[in-house]
Amino acid sequence: MLWSAPRRPWTIRLCCLSRFLTLQLQPPQASPLILRPYQEICLKACLDAHSSGASRIGVSLPTGAGKTAVFISLLSSLEPKDSRPGATRSLVIVNSIELAKQATAQARRLRPDWIVEIEQGHHKATGHADLTVATYQTLLESDRLHKFSPQSFKAVVVDEAHHAAAPSYRRILSFFHPEVQCPENRTHPRTAQDAVPIFGFSATFSRHDGLALGSVFERIVYHRDFLDMIKEQWLCNLRFTTVKANIDLNNVTISTRTGDFNPSSLAHVINTETINKLVVKTWLDRAAKDRKSTIVFAVNVSHVRDLTKTFQLAGIDARFIYAGTPTTERNALIDSFKAGVFPVLVNCALLTEGADIPNVDCIVIARPTKSRNVFLQMIGRGMRLSPDTGKQDCHVIDFVDLTNSVVGIVSAPTLLGLNPDAVVDDVTIQDLETRADTANRESSTATLTTPYPTGYSDLSVPDPKSVTYIDYDNPFVLLNQIMRASPPMVKLSKNGWVDCGEGIHVLECLGKGHIRIEPVLDDAGDHFHAHYTPSIHPQTASALNISRFQTNRKILDANNLGDAIRGCDKYAAEKVLRGPISRALLRTAKWRQAPASPAQTSLVAKRWGYVNKVVQNIRGTSDNGDSLLPERLRNLTKGEAAYIITRLRHGGQRRYIKKTATHQKLLAAEAKEMQRRAREHVRVGPLVSDLQNTDVSSRGKSP
Ligand SMILES: *[C@@H]1O[C@H](CO)[C@@H](O)[C@H](O)[C@H]1NC(C)=O
Ligand SMILES: *[C@@H]1O[C@H](CO)[C@@H](O)[C@H](O)[C@H]1NC(C)=O
Ligand SMILES: *[C@@H]1O[C@H](CO)[C@@H](O)[C@H](O)[C@H]1NC(C)=O
Ligand SMILES: *[C@@H]1O[C@H](CO)[C@@H](O)[C@H](O)[C@H]1NC(C)=O
Ligand SMILES: *[C@@H]1O[C@H](CO)[C@@H](O)[C@H](O)[C@H]1NC(C)=O
Repeated sequence: MLWSAPRRPWTIRLCCLSRFLTLQLQPPQASPLILRPYQEICLKACLDAHSSGASRIGVSLPTGAGKTAVFISLLSSLEPKDSRPGATRSLVIVNSIELAKQATAQARRLRPDWIVEIEQGHHKATGHADLTVATYQTLLESDRLHKFSPQSFKAVVVDEAHHAAAPSYRRILSFFHPEVQCPENRTHPRTAQDAVPIFGFSATFSRHDGLALGSVFERIVYHRDFLDMIKEQWLCNLRFTTVKANIDLNNVTISTRTGDFNPSSLAHVINTETINKLVVKTWLDRAAKDRKSTIVFAVNVSHVRDLTKTFQLAGIDARFIYAGTPTTERNALIDSFKAGVFPVLVNCALLTEGADIPNVDCIVIARPTKSRNVFLQMIGRGMRLSPDTGKQDCHVIDFVDLTNSVVGIVSAPTLLGLNPDAVVDDVTIQDLETRADTANRESSTATLTTPYPTGYSDLSVPDPKSVTYIDYDNPFVLLNQIMRASPPMVKLSKNGWVDCGEGIHVLECLGKGHIRIEPVLDDAGDHFHAHYTPSIHPQTASALNISRFQTNRKILDANNLGDAIRGCDKYAAEKVLRGPISRALLRTAKWRQAPASPAQTSLVAKRWGYVNKVVQNIRGTSDNGDSLLPERLRNLTKGEAAYIITRLRHGGQRRYIKKTATHQKLLAAEAKEMQRRAREHVRVGPLVSDLQNTDVSSRGKSP
């Protein structure tokens, strides 16, 4: 074979690994392949791993890092092993026609001496070329794979290799490498000598499909983060704006295959007039002035169309492409978008992988995702440098749900390990990193610190009509919390005292009024006051147009809560509810077990944000009303309802919400962060090959 002749001069020079190595390729008229410093290091890591016997090698290079240049120089410098002298050909497996074309074009440019063929659709390769670029879809067709005889291949390169653990890829790769298990066939017909080395390249090796990449790759030999690329100015800088919108993602179904939202289900929630207008408005506010070329990612084709229309109605020349756009039309559109003819190009998944439009200086992600991979691919479209078009940086605008109630949504802050609530508006990667560093420092010195940024004003995307705020509350949490009478209180009193938070304790005296103990901090130090507030009969109160709780009497001052409670219990039994009826104050009183009255349930349900319809239904005898309420609320007893209502009256709701919200956010942030780190941290090192193992890509130590 033309290329396999050993000891070409440049091969030797390559091994010297001079800093800015120029490959003077043969024949001399070939374009010189100048590798960037990190590409050289990456290349050397691959060659070292290969010569030390590794044969399933992963390389993690971010989008825009020049993967193709690296794997073409890799394939150029790989020598067939002595044991397989006839193995001189290479196969590159990609996952889209676009990528196949790009890889082929680049290979032909860099290695005009090679025979390069495409195996895709109606393009049929001979199987004898120096390099064949194939789409995996085509290789899965019957008899498209078997012409590639493993004996004559020195390497298989898998592009976008994070897909490689999928059954379809393993079916193909098992043909070349006996240690890759074919999903249908767990027998290994060939011997180890037949193994063709596999090199997988990916922008990120996080496993979004939940399958262990270890089943395909034995180790990751090189990893480079896109942040480093930005710092060294191989990629352009990013600015982020994260918009919190009233999007309820809780009901969106999750695909078991991708672990991400199902597009149709997501489209239901996202493709609304309100959200589409918000997207356009945000773009007008944040990007219209200084951005020339924006790519918008939508959820599905209907969303692509509707969003494009919304842009157009606002007078913006937005156009769209989708998988069904005829190739010639698509190419023409992309060409004029590259030329700056129109400012906004809307698409769904089409442009996530492979599209090369360097002038893009704004990315709008109108498609919440749980996949860091997908998120990175989307922003990757805007990270290429484009000095010709005067591009300075790329503005990434994404949309998340207001409440962050769905765990694992990727947004600008979570990308850098910040709390998903971090307010982000027009901040750079560097800002975010600084904030993440600060947050990390804080959380390593305290048990539960808020990784919140300070000094960033609230995001002001004005559209008050379309962005409404959802209260953060959870009746179940509250109910459970209340019913766990705190052990100290059980010891102090047999009566049904309600802890309303912040030291306030209230005993309801069955319609006669209530006793309230609250802490005071004054010159005398920390102590407690207690007051009795008799209630005026509701009808009297409304007749007089006065509050039912007009006056209160001081009962006592006490140095501690115990004394206060004992004193108040005595007061209640002697002054408020005299005789046997005082037994009704007991925590164990029978009446507390009875079902709550419709009025009580209705009040509780309403205060916790259950819609009016539901409340009306439970008031009446409507049979389907009950089924709309959560079971816990339907089962409410009088005692529980009384506890809750007492807390509501005494400000427990506000305090509780504040406390829970903060706590929940912290817990969620921690959980997310752990999850993110475990699943998405790419490290150089070995991968575990156990398919059952769910924690694979993060294993291993740096060499
Ligand atoms: C499994 O491998 C054996 C041995 O090569 C082969 O004969 C058989 O057809 C394969 N089965 C499937 C389902 O591919
Ligand atoms: C949530 O999903 C369920 C079933 O998937 C559906 O019945 C229900 O109406 C949905 N709720 C909302 C608010 O969309
Ligand atoms: C997009 O999603 C919506 C909402 O689920 C669905 O009705 C529509 O059929 C989808 N459109 C396409 C083209 O998939
Ligand atoms: C009751 O009093 C409030 C203010 O205390 C007043 O606004 C309201 O008009 C009064 N209602 C009646 C019926 O007098
Ligand atoms: C509600 O009451 C029913 C019947 O008493 C019981 O089976 C169920 O477990 C209760 N649910 C809760 C959440 O307490």
